[in-house]
Parts: sequence; structure tokens; C-alpha cells
Amino acid sequence: MVTTHRIALIPGDGIGQEVTPAACRVLDAVGKRHGVAFSYDELDWSCARYTELGAMMPADGLDRIRHHDAVLLGAVGDPSVPDHVSLWGLLIPIRRTFRQYVNLRPVKVFEGVDSPVRGAELMDLVVVRENVEGEYSEVGGRFGTGFPEEMAVQESVFTRAGVTRVADYAFTLAGRRHGHVTSATKSNGIVHTMPFWDEVVAEVARSHPDVAWRSEHIDALCAKVVLDPVRFDVIVGSNLFGDILSDLTAAVAGSIGIAPSANINPERDFPSMFEPVHGSAPDISGRGIANPLGAIWTAALMLDHLGHREAAAEVEGAIAGVLAKTPIRTPDLGGTAKTGEFTTALLEHLS
Ligand code: NAI
Ligand code: MG
Repeated sequence: MVTTHRIALIPGDGIGQEVTPAACRVLDAVGKRHGVAFSYDELDWSCARYTELGAMMPADGLDRIRHHDAVLLGAVGDPSVPDHVSLWGLLIPIRRTFRQYVNLRPVKVFEGVDSPVRGAELMDLVVVRENVEGEYSEVGGRFGTGFPEEMAVQESVFTRAGVTRVADYAFTLAGRRHGHVTSATKSNGIVHTMPFWDEVVAEVARSHPDVAWRSEHIDALCAKVVLDPVRFDVIVGSNLFGDILSDLTAAVAGSIGIAPSANINPERDFPSMFEPVHGSAPDISGRGIANPLGAIWTAALMLDHLGHREAAAEVEGAIAGVLAKTPIRTPDLGGTAKTGEFTTALLEHLS
């Protein structure tokens, strides 16, 4: 019997259009081996749509994908459209409406990929980023536009429920991994929200006595990620800190083109959304040289979320296999392979 999953597919802009077909090829191939099929509803939601029709997605867009099993997204962003328009017109509404409060970003250094950081070979960590509140809030405004006293105010929003649930997710995850959580803070400088974050994390930690944890200031933590990346297991951070940490850890792992992410609604009341960490890469888009690994590893996270653990592990195995056993690489990893060629080579390692 074949299980069919309905996937809302949003390739988006730039290299999003180039890496999502690679992810779908891998999903279809691994699905065949495991009795799983995917039916993709492809949506043109993007900056290109915004330029043509004035909105990133249709007014009833969220209702159209509410009942899908998952959302698979490439990347959105275009130099002609302000980044806050593309982010707030598509990604943030999906994350918030579907209560995807956990943004999961696993990072590891694959054999055959050079980290720019010495001694990072054994790095294997997951960044758990709070994904629906925190610093990325709409509370605030501009005042005195055009006058010398012009000012902008932006409020961060941290709720007990919001911090508790993301911290709980991080501790539970660490319990299944290597049993260690690092909580990113900045309670020395940000004197209201960050001490609150620390307090709530400490409360959550008490209900996970099997998990060791420590709290580190974000600046020092960034330095440690570069100086000693192998000592981390799960790092939990607010929306902003988690965003920055996940690009940093991805870069330490060798290329932002490899890094995957999952926006998870743990209660499964809504679809979760899976997207590579990278953006639309306007500097290389249209040339067919984007690294599809981020999108392919993202597809593995989606398989895992949909309950196909073995299939997910097989995709991760194919990623590790093609990198360890062949010199085939896209240009960001020092090779000359095109996106499609690399994907074909990866598919040969699916077993
Ligand atoms: P970016 O991730 O698009 O690119 C940063 C650098 O990494 C570029 O030099 C790019 O060529 C390279 N790169 C990224 N992904 C790659 C891949 N798969 N293979 C090879 N090289 C890769 O970030 P940037 O330039 O800051 O943003 C470009 C646009 O993407 C902006 O409009 C931004 O708002 C948007 N963006 C969208 C995201 C999303 O859809 N979730 C996330 C980050 C940025
Ligand atoms: Mg980011």
C-alpha cells in the first residue's frame, strides 16, 4: 500500500526554483523505495508574484494550504522587493498562523566537506530557534519621519507560554541526543526580556533532570561556536539569536548551501514548513549551480516529521555518501558540478 502525502510546494524566487526540483527528485526516489508518494501542489507565491500582482500570496493563501501534510519551500527574496515585504508577506504569516513555534536547524560537518574552522570535524548540533515571537515583532513604530528627531521603536515580545514550549522542545530533543542544552541569552545587556527568558528556561530545565544545561551570553557563545564547535549538542535561542546562530553554525559546517531547517508545529494542528536556511542567492541564480544539499536535507527533515524515519535516514546517508565517496561538488564547495548533476550523483548513493 502506498501512502500519499499532499505537499504544498513553494519554490519561491532565485535559486529556490533550482533547488526544490532537486529535493522533489530525491523525495520521489526515496518514496518509491518505501511505499510513499508525494502529490505536490505547486504555488507561485514569491517576489515575482508580488511584482506582478501586488501580493506575495493570494488573500486566502493560508486557507489553501492549511490541510496539506506539509509545506516545502525553496527561498523567497529579490533585490527589487524590500526583504521585509517578502518575509512578512509570506514566511512569517505561515510560521505564525500555523503555530510553527520551533525552528529546527541541524548542523554537522560531513566527511569530504572542509570546514573553515579548525577542529570542527566532529561538530554535530541542532539549533532550536524560537520562531513566532521575540525580537521579530510588529509592536513599535516610526515617529517624526523626516525631522531631525526621527526615531524608530521596536519592542520584543517574550511570553511565558512561548519560551516554555520552545525550551521544553529543546530539552526533550537533547534528551534523545547527547543530553546537553546551551541557552543563548544576553541578560547583562537586555535587562527585561532576557532575564525572563533565563528564568523560564531554568524552570523548564528542572523538569528535565536528565539533561545538563548552561546559559551563555550570545556574544561569547558566537565566539565559542567558532573556537570549539564540537562541544555543543542542542542550542536554544530566541528568534533573533537563533537566526544568527544558525547562519553562523551553518558557515562553520562549510557552506550555508548545506543547511536545512524545519518550522515545526509540534502539536500537528497545522502543517509544518520545511525550507533550506539559505535565501534566493541572486548572485548565482539562473546559472544552475546552486547547491541542492540544503533543500535535500530539508526534505529528509520533512520525511522524518511525516513519520518516515528510515527514508529520512536513507537521504542523510546519500548526502554523506556522495560527499565522502565522490569529488562531485557544486561551486560553493569548490567543485564544478551543476545542481542537477550533483543531484543525480547523490541519487546513486540512495540505498
Ligand atoms: P543567501 O543565502 O541568498 O546568499 C548568501 C550567500 O550564500 C550568497 O553568496 C549565495 O550565493 C550563497 N548561497 C546561498 N545558498 C546557496 C546555495 N544553495 N548554493 C550555493 N551558494 C549559496 O542570502 P542573502 O544574499 O543575504 O539574501 C538573498 C535574498 O534571499 C534576500 O532577498 C533575502 O531576504 C532572502 N532570504 C530568504 C530566506 C528565506 O527564504 N528563508 C532566508 C535568507 C535570505
Ligand atoms: Mg536567517
